[in-house]
Amino acid sequence: MDGLLPLLYLLASVTFVLGIKLLGSPKSARLGNLIAAAGMTVAIIGTMFLYKHNGRPLHNLEWIIAALIIGGAAGWIMAMRVKMTSMPQMVSFFNGMGGGCAALISILEYTSATQSDAPLSIGHSLAMMAGLIIGAVSFSGSIIAYLKLEDRLSDIRFGGQQFVNNGLLLITFALGALLVIGSVSGLPMLYMLSVLALIFGVLFVFPIGGADMPVVISLLNSFTGVAAACGGFLYDNMVMLIGGILVGSAGTILTVVMCKSMNRSLLNVLIGNFGSSAGGGGSTGGGSYREVTAADAAVMMAYANRVVIVPGYGLAVAQAQHVCHQLEHELEGKGVTVLYAIHPVAGRMPGHMNVLLAEADVAYEKLIEMEEINADFPTTDVVLVVGANDVVNPAAKTDPTSPIYGMPILDAELARQVIIMKRSMKAGYAGIDNELFYRPNAAMLFGDAKASLSSLVNEVKSL
Ligand code: TAP
Repeated sequence: MDGLLPLLYLLASVTFVLGIKLLGSPKSARLGNLIAAAGMTVAIIGTMFLYKHNGRPLHNLEWIIAALIIGGAAGWIMAMRVKMTSMPQMVSFFNGMGGGCAALISILEYTSATQSDAPLSIGHSLAMMAGLIIGAVSFSGSIIAYLKLEDRLSDIRFGGQQFVNNGLLLITFALGALLVIGSVSGLPMLYMLSVLALIFGVLFVFPIGGADMPVVISLLNSFTGVAAACGGFLYDNMVMLIGGILVGSAGTILTVVMCKSMNRSLLNVLIGNFGSSAGGGGSTGGGSYREVTAADAAVMMAYANRVVIVPGYGLAVAQAQHVCHQLEHELEGKGVTVLYAIHPVAGRMPGHMNVLLAEADVAYEKLIEMEEINADFPTTDVVLVVGANDVVNPAAKTDPTSPIYGMPILDAELARQVIIMKRSMKAGYAGIDNELFYRPNAAMLFGDAKASLSSLVNEVKSL
């Protein structure tokens, strides 16, 4: 039986890699998730019944099983109840739990190391302190991100924040380094390090807001992966190490991609500098806008050569993806070319629009990424903005005081006609007015996206 556990770990590791690969497309993502979850189950059960420490099996199985039941039930209920639009909050919350667990592993391992006579190697101390700091930052940072995404906490900024944050980070690292080399030791010092890291996590996410949240969420995600990998190193557990490294590297790649889409450098993110440009500016102060009826909008689109649909968060809120696909179908029946313009941070989570539209069976090749479709807007007859706002706000290009200044946007305003579907003139996630709504080539079609799209489908059908 001795060789079985490493084999199970190998099998589980392969399922993780396969799972990530399958997550690359909305069509195979569900299967990928199931395969990786099955691999994780095999690894957990294998560890519970086959793992031996100094020749002895695990002796606290009843505690482990109780924790599995409580945690599994809580996770199951949360996942079944969560609305699609609240997924980012849940991901953030779960990510925080992972970071917290990794930090607890370090605390427990340090505690048992201080109780034994065997000296701690530098490598082990380093993994412990790194796991503790990164895990604790990820835990408290993710909880703050969760509260912000839930709209229970707003951005908190104060004078000298950069200085305080960087100073605190430096002190945390210094204490961690002293614990690693053994210049200071003992549980009180370790608890102090935990508290410092937790406070840093809170302060680090406090000022970040508006359009920068996706970057911080994926960054915290990669932190949890690295912290878990440190745990794997401590326990000499290959599957934990591999799982942690996969999450850490996938999260880092996502962070880099997000930074690119938001036009931020990674260094800027790491020193906690982002969000600082948000000075509350960016409002155009309103102006006069034009309204259009569903009947007029239908005529504009049905007689166009090319219509580009820009989906945004409102499409997800209204759950209007199916009726949107129906509109595409009706327009194509009239000989109109219909494409979707996908902004990398449209919605509230990476790939949100891709997943939503795939659910409605929109052909994948119709989803065109921002870099590719931007060149085509000047030759597009009609752009239909469905519940999107920040991702088509020209202030990102023209107003240096705007909190989204510098973020690449979809150049919808360059099309001949722009129809914007939303319920009111209210701002989007970044909380700023959108000058596109007041442009002469733009018109508002007010109402819930699903209801408005249904009216459009009926109007197009009747032409
Ligand atoms: P937003 O800028 O948030 O705008 C969405 C618009 O949808 C709102 O202005 C809202 O206007 C409208 N809306 C809401 N419910 C609707 C409904 N039922 N029917 C019709 N319209 C509805 O969305 P976006 O353009 O997709 O941009 C995403 C923003 O979220 C960016 O700032 C991005 O940085 C941020 N963010 C993204 C992520 C990721 S990873 N994607 C994560 C966190 C934050 P009304 O209230 O007037 O209807």
